[in-house]
Amino acid sequence: MKLVLLSDLHLVSFESLRTRDFFTKRSLAWMNLRFNRKDAVKGGSIARLAIQRVKALQPDHILFTGDFSNMALPSEFELARDVLAPIWDPARLSVVPGNHDYYALDSVKAHTFEHYFRELIWGASGGTAYPGIKTIAPNVALLLFRSTHYLPGILSFGWVSNTQIKRAKSALQALKPAFTIAAFHHNLHRRGLMSELTGRMLKRKQLKANLLNLGVKLVLTGHDHHHLEYPVQKKGQSMDVICSGSTTLTTSKHLPGFTLIELDPKQPEKPIKIKVFSYRPEIGDFIDETNAG
Ligand SMILES: [Fe+2]
Repeated sequence: MKLVLLSDLHLVSFESLRTRDFFTKRSLAWMNLRFNRKDAVKGGSIARLAIQRVKALQPDHILFTGDFSNMALPSEFELARDVLAPIWDPARLSVVPGNHDYYALDSVKAHTFEHYFRELIWGASGGTAYPGIKTIAPNVALLLFRSTHYLPGILSFGWVSNTQIKRAKSALQALKPAFTIAAFHHNLHRRGLMSELTGRMLKRKQLKANLLNLGVKLVLTGHDHHHLEYPVQKKGQSMDVICSGSTTLTTSKHLPGFTLIELDPKQPEKPIKIKVFSYRPEIGDFIDETNAG
C-alpha cells in the first residue's frame, strides 16, 4: 500500500485574530510571523501544490502529523480545510493535532481543532477520545494519538498519556491487525538543546517501549520540520520511525517536503520503501529526491 506523510503546514490567516488575542500567548506567534517569518504567508500556495502532487501519486492513505496552524485561530483552520479540500475523504485522509493547533487555552477548551477535523480523526464512528483508531486497509490499523497539550509561553512539550495507550491496547486486541501504524506530532528523537529544553517529547523511552509492546511496526511523526528515518529495536522487537519534514517551511537550512511510503501489510518484516519529495524554489515544484541525482 502507498501512504503519504505530510506535516507542519503552519498556515497563515489573521482574519479571526482579535485585539484580546494580544493579551494571550498568541502575541508570541504573531511577533514571530511578523518579524522572523515574513515568508510564511507563501506556505499556503506551497501546501496547495503539495496536495496536487500527492493526489497525482494516488496513495491509499494520506496522513498529516499536525501543526496546520500557527496560533490555533479558527481562520487558520478554515484555511487548512480549504487547502485539504481536494483530498478530503475521512476514509483516505487522517490527521493528528500539533502543539500549534493547541496554541491557545481558549481553543483547547473549545476543542476547536477537533471541531474542524473530527471526521479525519475518528471517521464516521463519532468518537471523541484519543487515539483515533482507523482501519486504513485490510488488516492495517492506524492509531492517531494526541501528543500535544496547552502549555504556557514558549513551552511545547509533548506526551502520550497512559490512558491513550490502554485504549489502543484494547482496540488492537479486538482488531488483531497484521500491521499497526502509530502517528503523533512530537518527534521521538533528540534534537538541539533549545528544542530539548522547551519542546521535546517527554518520557521517550517509555513511549517507545509502549509502542513496541502494542506491536506497532511504523511510527509517523512531525514537529522537527526536518525529515528523518530510523529504526527502534528492543528485545527482539523493532519498528521503523519516520519524522516528516515541514511541507511548507522554506529556510536556508530547509526545503518543504513530503514523504511517500510503500509497505506490504502481508509481509510486515519486509523493508518499507521511502521516497522524499522536496520543493525546489528554482523550478517552483516538488521533485522526487531519490531520482534527482
Ligand atoms: Fe510542532
